[in-house]
Amino acid sequence: METQAPTASFTVIPNRRPATDEERWLAMEDPVFGKVFTDHMARATWREGEGWADRRIVPLAPIPMHPGAAVLHYAQQAFEGLKAYRWEDGSIHLFRPEANAARLAASCARLALPTVSEADFLAAVTGVVEADRNWVPSTAGASLYLRPLVMATEPSLLVQPAAEVDFLVTASPVGAYLSDGTQGVSIWVSRGYHRANPGGTGEAKTGGNYAASMLPQKEAKEHGCGQVLFLDAKEDTYVEELGGMNLIAVRADGSILTPRLSGTILAGVTRDSILTLLRDEGRAVEERDVALAEIIAGLEIGEIVELFACGTAAVVTPIARLVSDDFDIAVPERDGDDASVARSVLERLTAIQYGRAEDPHGWTTEVVPAPEG
Ligand code: COI
Repeated sequence: METQAPTASFTVIPNRRPATDEERWLAMEDPVFGKVFTDHMARATWREGEGWADRRIVPLAPIPMHPGAAVLHYAQQAFEGLKAYRWEDGSIHLFRPEANAARLAASCARLALPTVSEADFLAAVTGVVEADRNWVPSTAGASLYLRPLVMATEPSLLVQPAAEVDFLVTASPVGAYLSDGTQGVSIWVSRGYHRANPGGTGEAKTGGNYAASMLPQKEAKEHGCGQVLFLDAKEDTYVEELGGMNLIAVRADGSILTPRLSGTILAGVTRDSILTLLRDEGRAVEERDVALAEIIAGLEIGEIVELFACGTAAVVTPIARLVSDDFDIAVPERDGDDASVARSVLERLTAIQYGRAEDPHGWTTEVVPAPEG
């Protein structure tokens, strides 16, 4: 589809009835992930032959939609997830927003949606963060989660790319995604269900992939597990990804093993950042097909000493158990904080995100400066 020339002007229409300070503090005290939304959102509309128009930051409000809107029937949509972090001096920073802009463009291309230019993506997320700067938490581990979304709004039941599309960015103050995150999450290995097929949409960040993961996720819960892990659809052999996170294994020799981006796996920005930091430490990082049998055998003989999940929402979450119909294997706990690669890489990553450490790769972008004085 078409790529627009860069433009960066989103007109701001301020919310005249924003949450009061008290309402905001209460809402931000201990927010459940994705349940609290800020006062503003970004919005732009696209029409075939006209391109993107009406770029604006507006008060958060329901969006009236025709019941025949194509997205409601055929799920023609793509979305993103990225975070804004408040540093100790009060300034606010985005983490690798260009990577999310590029991935949204790739997802839109796969879903036959018009792409959002990097300039529009950055202007929209920056505009929302600026308008809702008071909603960026300052508590440890908390941040403002931004959810860009592109969806087909044209009322049409024809199975064809829509001629009317909306781009929206909403924002949510968030803490941990997984309530049992630091203790380690138990993972259910799904045997009957797959998340993605070769040539399908597994590589795109699109709602249908997540819809398909909900029944297996329910199955995981029924087996006492917090997340589900999918195997590849072609051979039913290789581990791919969790419902919304990538998987990383640590070997006894300190090297790292993770499924390659085969086309059916989402290219996680957090995954890429973590692998970069681990390579910076001098660790060997292998990205290749990884059989479930290799993980199980590795855990049993002590060759694999750690497993963790990573993603923008979940950040880094140690895996405590791998469970399925025919096995239940505990991942050994590492002695002390220093030994755990998950813990140390989480610390290194979040130190960069929150401005406590140097940013050698230039990943952070200041959106709101520190208040004067
Ligand atoms: C993210 O990590 O940003 C995601 O979109 C995953 C989702 C399960 C919340």
